[in-house]
Amino acid sequence: MTTRSRPAGVQIVGSGSALPERRLTNADLEKLMDTSDEWIVQRTGIHERRLHDKNDPYPTSSLGAKALRAALDDAGMAPTDLGLILCATMTPDSPTPAVSCRIAAQLGCGTIGAMDINAACSGFVFTISLAHELIAGGLYDSVAVVGVDTVTRHCDYSTFGRGAAILFGDAAGALILRKTDDPAPGLIAQAMHSDGDGARALYIPSGMSQIVDAQPDERMNDKIQMNGQKVFKFAVSKFPEVIEETLALAGLAPPEVDHYVCHQANARILEAARERFGLPESKLRVNIHRVGNTVAGSCPLVFDELKKDGQIKPGQKVMFIAFGAGLTWGASLWQL
Ligand code: COA
Repeated sequence: MTTRSRPAGVQIVGSGSALPERRLTNADLEKLMDTSDEWIVQRTGIHERRLHDKNDPYPTSSLGAKALRAALDDAGMAPTDLGLILCATMTPDSPTPAVSCRIAAQLGCGTIGAMDINAACSGFVFTISLAHELIAGGLYDSVAVVGVDTVTRHCDYSTFGRGAAILFGDAAGALILRKTDDPAPGLIAQAMHSDGDGARALYIPSGMSQIVDAQPDERMNDKIQMNGQKVFKFAVSKFPEVIEETLALAGLAPPEVDHYVCHQANARILEAARERFGLPESKLRVNIHRVGNTVAGSCPLVFDELKKDGQIKPGQKVMFIAFGAGLTWGASLWQL
């Protein structure tokens, strides 16, 4: 956990997002597995999600590049204006090179630094705090933070894999952070947590060696595995806990934050948090019904939607919050 005084201001100067065209509705899933629209909507709030282009050999990089291009346009910046690209993802197109390197090449960013960070669904939230410090500490003037995942590549759309497969969708979002002479904007407080003892609650076994001691079933290989009830219990406790922790670090009360930009994992979890903190619907946007759980793409996608709707204004306070595999959970509270 961290709270700090800032020597230089850091501003979020642009945002962008990208959703694939292809839709996968609950009705489509009914044809692939033993499930129902009613079951999915009641438990998760999800109606449809998006799937990456099957013919694209680099779907994660392509989506990430599209989101970053939009963010650069929003900021009025050229790709060559960037100092560094940090990309949060748990679904790179291949183990190496990093998705961020492909994004830099696709956009023509030159030879700037580029690297990936994997903290699953918490990845974007962790990374935006790190990016802030790189600017506030004087190393860079501008850093792009991309959150992108194409986790549907790891979903088993059969009755065997239905527990996890119904939840996920593909998406990307990106924010551009830039140094400013105004010391007011920037990170107010942040928290990052992990608990590797919970690794088996949500994971993608890659190579049979990782699953033989769990449950030797070939169908699990390279497909996302989830203990839904365990993850649900983890999320309903840690999600409000990390909001409280970050508010306490900042010395703020819940109504003093203008937007809670939350990882979209389950509509019920979001609604429970909203009620617990007494927040109006306008302060905690829910888009999971349209896109599902988009992992590291989730928070920047919500932020970009808010910005496009004219809800994001200078001087506001915005808290990004996420939880996910690892297990990981965290928050990043910003003064815009
Ligand atoms: N369609 C229909 N039935 C399904 C199903 C599906 N897609 N997936 C599971 N079921 C069945 C189960 O087999 C089980 O049947 P049984 O009672 O005959 O054994 C029954 O539905 C209940 O399963 P359960 O896993 O107990 O459901 P649940 O009420 O816990 O809801 C989740 C499942 C996944 C919606 C819920 O646990 C959840 O949201 N967990 C958190 C997930 C999450 O947020 N993950 C991402 C974190 S970043």
